[in-house]
Amino acid sequence: MAIVIKTPQEVEKMRRAGAVVREVLEYVRGFVKPGATTMDLEGAAVRKMEELGVKPAFKGYHGYPCVLCTSVNSEVVHGIPSAKRVLREGDIVSIDTGVVLDGYYGDSAITVPVGEKIAPRAQRLLDVTRTSLESGIQAVRPGATLGDIGAAVQQVVEAGGFSVVREFVGHGIGTSLHEDPQVPNFGRRGQGLKLREGMVLCIEPMVNSGSPDVQVLEDGWTAVTQDGSLSAHFEHTVAVTSDGAVVLTE
Ligand code: MF3
Ligand code: CO
Repeated sequence: MAIVIKTPQEVEKMRRAGAVVREVLEYVRGFVKPGATTMDLEGAAVRKMEELGVKPAFKGYHGYPCVLCTSVNSEVVHGIPSAKRVLREGDIVSIDTGVVLDGYYGDSAITVPVGEKIAPRAQRLLDVTRTSLESGIQAVRPGATLGDIGAAVQQVVEAGGFSVVREFVGHGIGTSLHEDPQVPNFGRRGQGLKLREGMVLCIEPMVNSGSPDVQVLEDGWTAVTQDGSLSAHFEHTVAVTSDGAVVLTE
């Protein structure tokens, strides 16, 4: 599969898809509280997508059953919403979603604390992961490389005392949810593919508080940390423009 360069008109369409993803995530965030289930979050997202007239990107993707991925505590990514999964005070929950609008995709994720009593180390994991995404985005400009993005993310994560998941990476996005290239959250400055104006990338650090190793549960989807440590995930859809990065999902 080749890398698809987008015209400014296409980037504009992706900005509209991205704005809807943001609106859905901010709406769903309002339902995160102790006693809510991850299926309550899914229900809120389904209603909002219907109201806004967009199609979910994840539901049906390789048979994935929901519009959200909801990954709690040691779940890294691809947690499946469930009416049995009750959120508790002090948990952290990653909410990942995507939509299709006018044929173009947007994809973004946030990790949020449940309730008011989050442990300082968990709060720091969220802060470091969000900052690592921002640092990766800052590295984006024509002529920079994928290694520059990965190195920028990795540097922030490891300086914070946490670790970068290697088995899952970011990706190109456009008229499909996943396009080339892969966008690792680790790497070496100056290495890898050169970024060009018109590329659109999902940068999505997955950061563990303990070892970087993950495993996938029997459901075939839910990735968890092997050591049971906490994990966080933030994601933005980002266009490469002559001025540098433009975040399409904010
Ligand atoms: N945001 C994730 C990704 O970019 C989730 C997609 S997996 C799905 O890969 F199956 F849920 F769609
Ligand atoms: Co993604």
